[in-house]
Amino acid sequence: MVSRHVPADVLSPLDGNDLVVWPRQTAMPDAEFMRELAGSDLVISFLTDRLDGPALDGAPRLRAVSQVAVGLDNVAVEVCTGRGIPVGHTPDVLTETTADTAWALLTAAVRRVPEGRDLVLAGEWGEWRPDLLLGGDLYGTTVGIVGLGRIGAAVARRAAGFSMRVLYTGPHRKPHLEPELKASYRDLTSLLTESDHVMVTAPLTPATRGLIGAEALAAMKPDAVLVNVSRGPLVDTEALLAALRAGRPGAVALDVTDPEPLPGDHPLLGFPNVLVIPHLGSASVRTRRRMVELAVTNAAAAVHGWRMPACVNPSVYASASG
Ligand code: DGY
Repeated sequence: MVSRHVPADVLSPLDGNDLVVWPRQTAMPDAEFMRELAGSDLVISFLTDRLDGPALDGAPRLRAVSQVAVGLDNVAVEVCTGRGIPVGHTPDVLTETTADTAWALLTAAVRRVPEGRDLVLAGEWGEWRPDLLLGGDLYGTTVGIVGLGRIGAAVARRAAGFSMRVLYTGPHRKPHLEPELKASYRDLTSLLTESDHVMVTAPLTPATRGLIGAEALAAMKPDAVLVNVSRGPLVDTEALLAALRAGRPGAVALDVTDPEPLPGDHPLLGFPNVLVIPHLGSASVRTRRRMVELAVTNAAAAVHGWRMPACVNPSVYASASG
């Protein structure tokens, strides 16, 4: 099963298999997804599909999951591993595009681009004023990266172009990356205290859920800019709303939210210094195609009984051969 419409030519490595391809760009209704999953040997899934324990219990034939995303928080990977099901995903091909999006958000928020656009669209562009919509700087400031994985490192690499100091945090120090990225490790609180801009790029796990909550927000500089391109639940929305009502942080730019999608009347959208875009991190034409291509490559490998090139639980192969 392929749970969204994808370009037919990309599916050619799967020719000869009995494919059920959902013909739309919107998600399959849950009941339909469950029904198809129940009879599928392999699923090419997307980040909105529910592949939790109960869903997998209803799919006795399933032999492989190939997700068109790097994030797998919608997939019960440990259940798949227990059943010997390889889970593929799409790292690397989306790293640079997502880092570009993170910088688009940071740059826009720091220089108050959305407020400028709103003002022009509202017909309120009067005479030039020296105090109009003054923002912060990127040049010479400090960026703190929460999660120095592939995307976090690509975000850090771009900071050199703005002559920024780079700090990072995560469960482990990564000394091998520090010289190239000119990045220094901090614990979370020190990073939040020292950074002018905080970029969240860590994956969503039980340990990172709500990581940016009331305490973290209070530790940030009052005029700091917070950017999240990871998953919405890393930032505690209620805590963020409370902080914004109290006048901090200086600006927020979110590619991902909790809940997602964010309803049009959500209170977050009432703050002029909050910029929200609809989960567009990897949304370039080239990257989205490369993601589907990699997912199909993973799927074709599984069909042939080969190792998926981008498998998140390769231990399933060790147990199969051992
Ligand atoms: C991912 O791959 O996890 C992104 O969120 C979607 O591009």
